[in-house]
Amino acid sequence: MKKRIGILTAGGDCPGLNAAIRGVVRASYHMFDAEIIGIRDGYRGLIEGDFSRMEESQFSNILTRGGTILGTSRTPFSQMRGPNSQGFDKIDEMKRNYRAMKLDCLVTLGGNGTHKTASLLSEEGLNVIGLPKTIDNDIAGTDYTFGFHTAVEIATDVIDRIHTTAASHGRVMVVELMGNKSGWLTLYAGVAGGADVILLPEFPYDIHKVAEVVNERVMQKKFFTIIAVAEGAMDKEESEMGRKKREAARTESPYNSISHRIAAQLEEICGVEARSVVPGHIQRGGTPCAYDRVLSTEFGTHAARMILEDHYGVTMAVKGRSIIANPLKDVAGVAKPVLWDGPLATSARDINISFGV
Ligand code: F6P
Repeated sequence: MKKRIGILTAGGDCPGLNAAIRGVVRASYHMFDAEIIGIRDGYRGLIEGDFSRMEESQFSNILTRGGTILGTSRTPFSQMRGPNSQGFDKIDEMKRNYRAMKLDCLVTLGGNGTHKTASLLSEEGLNVIGLPKTIDNDIAGTDYTFGFHTAVEIATDVIDRIHTTAASHGRVMVVELMGNKSGWLTLYAGVAGGADVILLPEFPYDIHKVAEVVNERVMQKKFFTIIAVAEGAMDKEESEMGRKKREAARTESPYNSISHRIAAQLEEICGVEARSVVPGHIQRGGTPCAYDRVLSTEFGTHAARMILEDHYGVTMAVKGRSIIANPLKDVAGVAKPVLWDGPLATSARDINISFGV
């Protein structure tokens, strides 16, 4: 029997989305009689009925392509229950369009926000399967999300390049990496790139402890220091403020990002020359690394198997070397923070990397 599969990609893009789409589609065509409906720009397309039937040829030659061939958008979960521009409930509209497309299931590729909406749609009776993507690697129940390892490669390359110029000039270099709520990317790239200090949202720091590292290195005649900081890192004072107050304080601050502030503070405290570097969305761009192509393909093919078995309300995950399916209701929106006693944070401390605490 033919199965009509709707696919959408939602939230911030990342490398590996096209490889995952390809995995779902190729395995579906291979395993059963499949028809694919591409939904444009994430949940926006599902709410507004912006979709089209896709041909098999449209999924050729996309394995290595960055971004997403389906487009994406951010529709915050908090606004999902509200009315759309015509005054209709967005969830009702999505259910209506799902029926209009005559879908047997909906495959959603996204991060925590996407998973929360996917779980809600599943509770509302739709057949939904999730695939976890994000460079932040902060989705509960899976060791890794696709996109993460590519971003780690890019961020590590940034730190490597910063190393040589930092050493030549004897400067403190503060490299600000993506991760508003989660420090996985900064932790991995910081360790891989040989950073001296790693500052994460999970471990509020003390700028004087960071300054101690810089001063100690100067005493050892190491005149440069590399600091990897996640964009959402905060000092101890900020961590006690609560999110709204902290964001307001940042908006009023003369520094346009955390790395600028840290560089200025260290110049002041240590009397050194400091610079900040913000690679920004470069970390989400370009072709996926081999690991992400493999993981995306594994998630995609496992999702196709779930469709074949009519096993819905789940999201794909990797645990050790196994690909598994976690119930959406158990993991949707559940954060996966870096833990102080986790293996990599422990290894980092063991080689004398400071977390500024
Ligand atoms: O995809 C996650 C993420 O990269 C975060 O690390 C970052 O804060 C956010 O997206 C920024 O995304 P955008 O600028 O696209 O809203």
